[in-house]
Amino acid sequence: MSLVLILTLEEFMAVLPLLYFPDPKLNTVAKPVQAVDARIKQLIVDMLDTMYDAKGIGLAATQVNVHEQLIVIDVSEDRDQALVLINPQTVWTSSETHLNEEGCLSVPGIYDGVQRFDAIKVVALDGEGKSRTVEADKLLAVCIQHEMDHLMGKVFVEYLSPLKRNRIKKKMIKAQREDAR
Ligand code: NI
Repeated sequence: MSLVLILTLEEFMAVLPLLYFPDPKLNTVAKPVQAVDARIKQLIVDMLDTMYDAKGIGLAATQVNVHEQLIVIDVSEDRDQALVLINPQTVWTSSETHLNEEGCLSVPGIYDGVQRFDAIKVVALDGEGKSRTVEADKLLAVCIQHEMDHLMGKVFVEYLSPLKRNRIKKKMIKAQREDAR
């Protein structure tokens, strides 16, 4: 790729501001994407840029304050296997579940265990608007379930005990106050 082209592409990418827990906007239920048009394609590019910039493995549109059913994921070591899921629907889940340690770009510095299905199958549109079936297990399955929760307005810490959740809430509010100074 020529340098000129790289510069041109970067000009059109943007790191979007994230919402942080306990922002109530994170509890918004996302609406289905109506059409995979230029606006959505730009949002995908910007969300990927935001996810890679923050060194995350997944990002839901909810986290950038867009309440439409769009998720970007990359669980690959080399950060070169982006997965785009639009209007994802779970069509199958394994009977086995596991407790996995999770984190979230909207709850920086917090990691805790959440029970998730070991494997899932989802049907979604890809970044071109084509319908796809994605079978996932291990980290990818956990990540998809975590991001789909965001689209339902649920942050992973809301699975934890009220005591833990309140402690995290206080910690986050304090950190955000210090950041604002
Ligand atoms: Ni998250």
